[in-house]
Formats: sequence, structure tokens, C-alpha cells
Amino acid sequence: MTASGTFGYGEEFEEYLPLEKLGAIVVKGISFNPRSGNPPPRIVETACGMLNAIGLENVGVERFIKEKMPYLQKVGNKTIVNILGDSIEEYCAIVERLNDVSGICAIELNISCPNVKKGGVAFGTKASMAAEVTRSVKNVCNFPIIVKLSPNVTDICEMACAVQEAGADAVSLINTLIGMAIDIEKKRPVLANTIGGLSGPAIKPVALRMVWQVSQAVTIPVIGIGGISTWQDAIEFILAGATAIQVGTANFVNPNAAEKIRVGINQYLQDNGIESIADLIGAAHPGR
Ligand SMILES: Cc1cc2nc3c(=O)[nH]c(=O)nc-3n(C[C@H](O)[C@H](O)[C@H](O)COP(=O)(O)O)c2cc1C
Repeated sequence: MTASGTFGYGEEFEEYLPLEKLGAIVVKGISFNPRSGNPPPRIVETACGMLNAIGLENVGVERFIKEKMPYLQKVGNKTIVNILGDSIEEYCAIVERLNDVSGICAIELNISCPNVKKGGVAFGTKASMAAEVTRSVKNVCNFPIIVKLSPNVTDICEMACAVQEAGADAVSLINTLIGMAIDIEKKRPVLANTIGGLSGPAIKPVALRMVWQVSQAVTIPVIGIGGISTWQDAIEFILAGATAIQVGTANFVNPNAAEKIRVGINQYLQDNGIESIADLIGAAHPGR
């Protein structure tokens, strides 16, 4: 799959890779009303990664349905809609609007954005609030729900168990880690927002560790995200317990990255005589 916010609404990437071969496209996070996001600069490159403080700029649910979904329906690949809200009511209102739209296979709840003032951080860092938003959305949602977890917590397993208990059908992890960069000439933070979300290869060891821990703490599928740039990275996440993976920042480096990873995984399976990728899920766990 492609990770939310790093692959637009699919269309932008059609000239680079066969979209229909992707496991799924996870679209840029959608709120109820359009959002313009944070002022620039909103992105800065770091050693082995990048910081972003886009601030969840998006077209809003109505324009998403009218202008973006028809293309995704035409391509015919699986579409996962990543959603965000300032309140539980907003999450539910978005889902209720999406319930009758064809071509959607799941909803991914972003409860983990560090770059918005309200809602995001609290939902993603307090287990009771993460559970409450999950339960409320589950009650009104026609699709399976994937809850996307923040790494900016003390105990990621506690968060995963809380949302599983509240009805999540899967968890995806991780979202970005909170970071910052300073311009030493201007003696000011580089990002207009001061802090941003760190992504890319720099966060891979953290993400892998969290997938390893969470996949042993829950019974629902775990989707691994964080610095996956090559097929070897993807295999590591699957061995750590991920049932599927998402490719994020790597799309900015090579717009064909997700396809190269898909082909590489298949080749690895063939070269090693492994019939099903399911045999590899969590194969690095103790006792396997
Ligand atoms: C520019 C940018 C925008 C993002 N927007 C979203 C978003 O709208 N919703 C979301 O849940 N995650 C968003 N993310 C987080 C990614 O989906 C992913 O979880 C994170 O970047 C870690 O994966 P990576 O290291 O492969 O990029 C964004 C990441 C980047 C770099």
C-alpha cells in the first residue's frame, strides 16, 4: 500500500507505476471541511529522512467524493480513505458521508497527527480517547476500520490494545515522530510551525520495534509503516509481524518505489521457495 499524504489521491502517480497492481492506495487525510494547512516552509530534508508540517491540507470530504473518488473508482484498485477530525463528531460525520460511496475498502483513522492544534494529539496519545473515537466511528461505519497509531507515546501496546478492544479491525503504525530543525544562519526554526513530523529511513528502527511489540500484543492485523524504502525493508516488517506494509517518504525519492517493493517481495518469495507471504508474518518472533 501507499501511505497517506505521500501519494496524493493516486492520479498524480499514474505515469510512474501500474496503480491497479498496488495492494491499496491510502489517500491523503480527509477532514469534513477543506483545510489549507500550515504556512510554508512546511517540509525540510534531514539526514536519512524529512520533517513535514503540512498541517493536513486537504480538499474536504465533499470535493473528495466528487473530484477524487471517480478517478480511483475508474482505476479499480482498492482505496483506503484516511480521515481526521478535531472532534469525535467530525470523524463520525466524515464516515457517514463516505458510507455509500463505492470503491472504498476501508477507513484509516488518523488519530496521530502532531501538526494540528486540536484533537489529533489527544486522540493519539491517550488510550481512553483513542478507544472512544474508535468505538464511535465503528458504530456508524460500513467499512472495516484501521486505526493509525502515533509513535509519540510511552506504551504503543497499550494504545493498540485499547483500540482493538474498542472494535478496530486493524492497526497501522507508525505515523511520524515529532522533530524539528533550526536554520543556523537565521537562528530560527526552519519550519514555520516550528515542529514537524519526522519520516523516512531515519525512523525505520523505531517503527520496526513497535510493529514487533504490537503484533505480539494484539490479535488483529498490523500494517507496518515507517521508512520502508526497499523490498528488504518490507520483508523485515513482515518478519516482525506486519500483515501488510505502507510505503511513504520513499515515494518522494522514487515515485516508482511501491512497485519496485512489490516486485522485490515476489522475487524474494520465489527465490526462497515460499508459497505464501502469510508464512513469513511474524516469522522472526521467539518460538517460530
Ligand atoms: C508529507 C507527508 C504528509 C503526510 N500526511 C499524512 C496524513 O494526511 N495522514 C496520515 O495518517 N499520515 C500522514 N503522513 C504520515 C505517513 O503516512 C507515514 O505514516 C509516515 O510518513 C511514516 O512512513 P514513511 O517513513 O514511510 O514516510 C504524512 C507523511 C508525510 C511525509
